Amino acid sequence: MRKLPNDLTIQKDNAKVAGQTFNNKLKQPIHESAKKHVTGEAIYIDDMPEWPNELHVATGKSTEAHADIVSINLEKVRAYPGVIDVIVQSDIPGEVDVSPVLSGDLLLAGDFVHYIGQPIFAVAATSFRAAKQAVELAEIEYKTREATLHPKESLARQEFVLPTHTITCGDVSAAMASAPRKIKSDLYIKGQEHFYLEGQISVATPTEDNGVVVYASSQHPAEVQKLVAKVLGVPVGQVLVEVRRMGGGFGGKESQAAVLGCMAAVLAIRNRRPVKYRMPRQDDMVQTGKRHDFWNSYEVGFSEEGEILSAEYDMVGKCGCTADLSDGVVDRAMFHADNAYFLPNARISGYRGKTHTVSNTAFRGFGGPKGVLLAETVVEEIACSVGKDALDIRKLNCYQDGKSKTPYGQEVDENVLLTLMEELEESSGYRARRSAIQAFNKQSPFVKKGLALTPVKFGISFTSKHLNQGGALVHIYTDGSVHVSHGGTEMGQGLYTKVAQIVAKTFGIDYQRVNVGSTRTDKVPNASPTAASAGTDLNGMAALDAAQTIKVRLQEFAMEHFGIAAEEFAIEDDTVFLAKETMSFPEFVKLAYMNRVSLSSTGFYKTPKIGYDRKAAKGRPFLYYANGAAVAEVVVDTFTGEYKVTQVDILHDVGASINSDIDIGQIEGAFVQGMGWLTSEELSWDEKGRITTNSPANYKIPTSADVPEKFNVKLFDRANSEESVYRSKAVGEPPLMLGISVWCALKDACAAMSDHTFSPPLSVPATPEAVFYSMQAAKEFSAGAVLNSEKSVKIL
Ligand code: MTE
Ligand code: HPA
Ligand code: MOS
Repeated sequence: MRKLPNDLTIQKDNAKVAGQTFNNKLKQPIHESAKKHVTGEAIYIDDMPEWPNELHVATGKSTEAHADIVSINLEKVRAYPGVIDVIVQSDIPGEVDVSPVLSGDLLLAGDFVHYIGQPIFAVAATSFRAAKQAVELAEIEYKTREATLHPKESLARQEFVLPTHTITCGDVSAAMASAPRKIKSDLYIKGQEHFYLEGQISVATPTEDNGVVVYASSQHPAEVQKLVAKVLGVPVGQVLVEVRRMGGGFGGKESQAAVLGCMAAVLAIRNRRPVKYRMPRQDDMVQTGKRHDFWNSYEVGFSEEGEILSAEYDMVGKCGCTADLSDGVVDRAMFHADNAYFLPNARISGYRGKTHTVSNTAFRGFGGPKGVLLAETVVEEIACSVGKDALDIRKLNCYQDGKSKTPYGQEVDENVLLTLMEELEESSGYRARRSAIQAFNKQSPFVKKGLALTPVKFGISFTSKHLNQGGALVHIYTDGSVHVSHGGTEMGQGLYTKVAQIVAKTFGIDYQRVNVGSTRTDKVPNASPTAASAGTDLNGMAALDAAQTIKVRLQEFAMEHFGIAAEEFAIEDDTVFLAKETMSFPEFVKLAYMNRVSLSSTGFYKTPKIGYDRKAAKGRPFLYYANGAAVAEVVVDTFTGEYKVTQVDILHDVGASINSDIDIGQIEGAFVQGMGWLTSEELSWDEKGRITTNSPANYKIPTSADVPEKFNVKLFDRANSEESVYRSKAVGEPPLMLGISVWCALKDACAAMSDHTFSPPLSVPATPEAVFYSMQAAKEFSAGAVLNSEKSVKIL
């Protein structure tokens, strides 16, 4: 008989179970849908068979950024062949407001509009084509008002969607006044379109007694359910929302997917017919929120060595016309304005700028990237000011022993950042490559190379404390197969695979026995959005809790039935150990069933230790930090600004990985998405407030051809010091900010035009045109156009 594995003796303390590491790298499963994604068998909502009487939706949209609606004539719309129903705001049976947190997001506009593209009425027709053509026939008269289109105007007019929040530490003014060197400048950071491959979509089907089933492409089914109930004026329990998968969400389906479910549900109930609302790409790009633009102004005081002594940051988010999730987004931008660096004295203010544009929303990083980019800009500029390599400035200022408190009071106590950076410095050959690049740039007047190693430290937990909870429901059937439901949604990130692995590991059974079902509001109630990278942390731990409850029941049954001691029971490698006997898992489960043991349980988890006091602007918003660093090398043609990313080396901290292939996939994808944001993806708006980048023809997302030629991704494999699920760390968002290394490498190449005496301003995104202008600025600087080294950065 095999010896009992001691780590699998049942423990009722879930934290102890979770505290073990996974360590199954050799036999880890591939993504549960990998093959289906590739063959096209994976079913998205638009692939579901349509009912014969299904209706299709299109909306009539505002053509003005800020206006009163004087009159609406929809007669021609109603008369159009195929049109079955046309609704305006007053036709909504329940409430009109579909805001996620606060208020102001209306399903349909009433007397006024506040962005171009805002839906005013909706049409349901027998075909999408009919609906789309009919909406063009509306006659709407507006009385226009002055529109605020830019966050600089919001700040000047003090127009905010929410109050300003400030974090301070130390004595900023005194430290600034006595600092030997200073930089004062600003950086305008443009937003980003989510460009999920599957656009926004929902199908609603009426059931009995005014109930409705909604198939949604949403990161937050519980919120779709709540808002559908609200617009219908029915109890939440009468609405069922199901999400099998999304073809990408990236934050764009955290709050704003609900509108589609609500619209489809209202029309489905009115007409007693199934209704599909699918936004074509152009509508999606016009009508749904994006990553916030940020206008960041900064003043930093530092020593002759480049040690940061004082920092004053004003960060203005372009929130758009309503609050949506902007409070959290701007807070997270502020929480990450330090990035990896200790700020002994700081004032960080975050403004929620109101503009008459579409309401901006969550996007991978949730504000964080705009803080991290600010921090890295500051470092690049300090390095040129004091004449050192930027990596030395980074290491000097990095959080470490004695420099471990963030401006908001949380301790960075794990201390892995500096080690991680040094490991990458070594493995990427940073110093040798720096020397080679310096030598190259010296002898190459027209082609310049740039290099940057940038770290990221990303706080894990929702900044809204109540969202840090997860729920799950686990069943074992009599053949030993296991079904898991949990509150998280699958958007390609591999959550279902990881949760199945966690359940299999907790039971001690084969992964193949475990099936994760689609996410449904009637299986797990009141679930948080799958966001903040916390999907596995929250739902994985809840599933572990459920599995553990059942396993303890099985153990108690075995003790009683076989008269064995607790430690004589174990399940390992799919085998049940009962003192001297063994049994297969299905045999044992069948026996338990025959003896009336309950084989089903819910599970629950809430993140411990966290809490942020917003009044005091101090506390611990995050359970832990995920860390990483990237080295990017670029080569630039100084005549055109055209460039290429020649090599990227990444070392990223995922704690003890649950699935290293999935984690590496997340790191690669996030890096490329971050690089796209900072290089080729440029949103633009005309002077009327109309977005002009409304299709892939005028908005350039990265393709496989843009992936760096040499792209080395390694995991920093070290167990999380906090008791997270199997000591893993969240991975979804943090590596997006590693894309900042490319932007910094470009800035470094531009600085080479002045022999690194000046780090010239570089726009975001750093398109070839922007790089060209930045190089010109560096060239002019070295030609003596700007001599005052105190003001070595252009002040706008
Ligand atoms: N990966 C894929 N393939 N598709 C996505 O839409 N969204 C990202 C990230 N990785 C996304 C993705 C975002 S914004 C978040 S918050 C996390 O996944 C959410 O999932 P998780 O919490 O399970 O990591
Ligand atoms: N991240 C992502 N989504 C969120 C958060 C957060 O911190 N808070 C509320 N929604
Ligand atoms: Mo991710 S931006 O938290 O959905």
